[in-house]
Amino acid sequence: MKRKIPVGPLKGAGPFVLPEGFSLLGLDDTHQEFSTETRAIDRYSLRDHYDWSLGPGRYAFVYKSGGSVLGLLRLELFNDHVLVDLIARNKLFVESERVGTKLMRLAEDIARQTGRPEVRLESVETAVGFYDDKLGYEEYEQTYEDDEYGELTPKRKKIV
Ligand SMILES: CC(C)(COP(=O)(O)OP(=O)(O)OC[C@H]1O[C@@H](n2cnc3c(N)ncnc32)[C@H](O)[C@@H]1OP(=O)(O)O)[C@@H](O)C(=O)NCCC(=O)NCCS
Repeated sequence: MKRKIPVGPLKGAGPFVLPEGFSLLGLDDTHQEFSTETRAIDRYSLRDHYDWSLGPGRYAFVYKSGGSVLGLLRLELFNDHVLVDLIARNKLFVESERVGTKLMRLAEDIARQTGRPEVRLESVETAVGFYDDKLGYEEYEQTYEDDEYGELTPKRKKIV
C-alpha cells in the first residue's frame, strides 16, 4: 500500500509517495537506539538526524518494522540531483529485510517523483561494492580523504 505524506510548503517539494514501512523521522522516533557499528556515524543520534532534517531541502526518512527503526535515509534535494547524505541500517537488529536496498530504492524513487535526473552520494570505502555491484552506481570524481569518514568516493546514478 502506498500513501502520501504531507511535506511543509517551505520545503518546496512533495507530498512524496512512500512505500509501506517508511515515514519521515519524527521526534517520537528519536528515543530509539540506533547503531551502525561505524564510529563516525554512531557519533550522531537519531535526534541529531532529526535536527539536521529541519534545514531547507533536507529530509530524514526511517524504515520501521514492528515499531522499531531499522533504517535511516538522509536526503538533500538540489536543483539537478538528489544527494543521499547518509544511509544506515540499524545493526542492533538481525538483517532480514534488505534494508539498505530499500533505502536506496526510495532515494531513487524520490528523484523520479521530484523530477531530478540523478542520485549522488559519497561512499565510504567499505560500501563501494554495495553501490557499484548491487545498485549500479558509478564513480564521477576521484576518491578523497575525509577527516571523519576516511576514504570517500563520489558516485552517481542516472535516473530514468
Ligand atoms: C551499507 C549498508 C547500508 C547496506 O545495507 P544492508 O541492509 O546491509 O544491505 P542489503 O541487505 O540491502 O544488501 C543488498 C546486497 O548488497 C550486499 N552488501 C551489503 N553491504 C555491502 C557492502 N558493504 N559491500 C558490498 N556488498 C554489500 C549484500 O550482501 C546483498 O547482496 P546479495 O544481493 O548478493 O544478497 C549497511 O551495511 C550499513 O548501514 N552500513 C553501515 C553504515 C554505512 O556504511 N553506510 C553507508 C555510508 S556511504
